Amino acid sequence: MSRIAYVNGVYGPHAHAQVHIEDRGFQLADGVYEVWAVFDGRLADAEGHFARLDRSLSELDIEPPMSRAALQVVLHEVLRRNRVREGIIYLQVTRGTARRDHAYPDPSVPPTLVVTAKSIDRAATNAKAERGIKVKTMPENRWGRCDIKTIGLLPNAMARQAAKEEGASEAWFVDAAGLVTEGAASNAWIVDKDGTLRTRDLKANILRGITRGTLMEVISTSNLKVEEAPFTVEDVLQAREAFITGAGALVTPVTHIDGKPIGEGQAGPVSLRLRRDYISRAKREAL
Ligand code: PDD
Repeated sequence: MSRIAYVNGVYGPHAHAQVHIEDRGFQLADGVYEVWAVFDGRLADAEGHFARLDRSLSELDIEPPMSRAALQVVLHEVLRRNRVREGIIYLQVTRGTARRDHAYPDPSVPPTLVVTAKSIDRAATNAKAERGIKVKTMPENRWGRCDIKTIGLLPNAMARQAAKEEGASEAWFVDAAGLVTEGAASNAWIVDKDGTLRTRDLKANILRGITRGTLMEVISTSNLKVEEAPFTVEDVLQAREAFITGAGALVTPVTHIDGKPIGEGQAGPVSLRLRRDYISRAKREAL
């Protein structure tokens, strides 16, 4: 079955989907995106991702391409046409197409909207989570507005590539103070040596992960303690467990950092339990 992409009102073959060469996303990374996990053909954490999309657009003064209800129809239609039951759906909005100029087009032009979806083999990703992944640290070198989910991801791509070249699946950025900020495409967590969960606070220059937020709610109904507090690489090495969260990773245990084991050097029980609890809640509430 051939893949279908949505581009500016048209559902067409993925292989031929196009935007203009002067799309500001292509030339200036002037756009934002969202990724939803998909369970049984439905959107996980739907509201949270829509709300963050609205915020990213408004921070950049990009007009929403359509109402939230209409966007939801497009997302479901892309899932249906691609027969995606388990996977992810990607949505990108750019400021639109205009003659190249750094300043925003005046008058404004219609935004570009692209939606694609892909299936994920959940059995394979669950097996990967059971094994856990390795991370590599990288100096934090991104801009000061990582709270906006922009398509400008070059530092993230470079960091992920550096991790891959060392056999790691994710990179963790470490800021000038020696504190872990977040992953290249995920938020970073530890279960510290006292058993308290820790992840960076939202005043830091990180993306306000939607999976992170939902997991906070899951944790609040458990007997676990959580602190939104920074941690160093040394704290990670002394931690019992570590894991990442994101629409792609869901909750995935981390076993090694820069080649050194964390805790037992295996996927930790708390991380794996949180993965299960997150997934059952996300499935229950998917739209
Ligand atoms: N990335 N931090 C960064 C830098 C991210 O790119 C992401 C998500 C997250 C986790 O956010 P959320 O829980 O809302 O997915 C944190 C997506 C999945 C991506 O780029 O594909």
